[in-house]
Amino acid sequence: MIYSTVSDFRSGAMRRLPRFLFDYVDGAANSEDTARRNVDDLAAIALRQRVLRDVSAIDTTTELFGQKLPMPVALGPIGLAGMLARRGEVQAARAAEEAGVPFCLSTVSICALAEVKRAVTKPFWFQLYMIRDRGHLRDLLAEARSSGCNALIFTVDMPVPGARHRDLRSGLSGSPGPLGALRRAAQAALHPGWALDVGLLGHPHSLGNVAAVLKGSTGLSDFLAWLNANFDPAVTWRDLDFIREHWSGPLILKGILDAEDAKAAASLGADGIVVSNHGGRQLDGALSTTRALPGIVEAVGGQLTVLADGGVRSGTDVLRLLALGAHGVLLGRAWAYALAAQGRAGVARLLELIGADLRRSMALTGVTRIADIGPHIQER
Ligand code: GLV
Repeated sequence: MIYSTVSDFRSGAMRRLPRFLFDYVDGAANSEDTARRNVDDLAAIALRQRVLRDVSAIDTTTELFGQKLPMPVALGPIGLAGMLARRGEVQAARAAEEAGVPFCLSTVSICALAEVKRAVTKPFWFQLYMIRDRGHLRDLLAEARSSGCNALIFTVDMPVPGARHRDLRSGLSGSPGPLGALRRAAQAALHPGWALDVGLLGHPHSLGNVAAVLKGSTGLSDFLAWLNANFDPAVTWRDLDFIREHWSGPLILKGILDAEDAKAAASLGADGIVVSNHGGRQLDGALSTTRALPGIVEAVGGQLTVLADGGVRSGTDVLRLLALGAHGVLLGRAWAYALAAQGRAGVARLLELIGADLRRSMALTGVTRIADIGPHIQER
């Protein structure tokens, strides 16, 4: 199989993964309308084809949070990525480091901060959920600091988990105990490559960063129930003070979809936001990020760094989000599919494809530098 698009990686992931994992990555909330709109609305942004403008030297380099990057792209946080390939977060972090783009480790990763730190030589980013136990939260921030993380993405769109119907059907959630384990084992048996590589040889399978507070549960026996029990629905803007007290590096709020919230983030001194609806995994019916982004950029684009995610399946999609005003783009499902299909090599190949496609699309729209991308490259 030659992997040359995200859709190829998705097919590879579908073949390789047991259903409860493929559906976890591929699925979204309720009817999955917002997840679909992320893809469809982004693909519908028409770019202006421009000609005869000397595009012999395309420069995709940029700077985000003081870091010089080869392109304005980072691997966004993905829960349970270590179940998609053996020690999956380590494999993805290595591929990202090789490509020079930031890797963001999820709070609910399989590999712990320390394991990822041992595997790479450069700093990576950490994503934080508001865990109920503030003592543990403080320890987690201390661990991120001592692991050398150089940006913190605080996810704010999950006070409660979304209604992920596929996860209930597959047995990832809602089937605790031996029955759920049996269902997942039966699905794994149909995917012997994964069963050997990850199921058998990829242990431990617990949530590495939060293992200390799991109190006997791995989190995987009923994932959504675990999220519900451990994430704090009472979180407010005031909790940013707590985070600021324990984190002095760049702070990025992920899951902003409303200009009023973006203004609050800016006025409270966030360094960045991610315009995101969590890949449609939270509020189904929410705006696509493509539709939300321009208004948010207009409101706060001059005050903080605006990243965006949602539906990005190519370097052309990266260009589209930049044209709408994003300063950088997070990949989500795209890298999860690539990791599941081919491990580190898959993520490396994906980043190569995204970079090549971005350069090509810039050439064909007649722009040669990231700073020159703007609304003028769109058809109106
Ligand atoms: C966790 O972050 C999820 O979206 O499942």
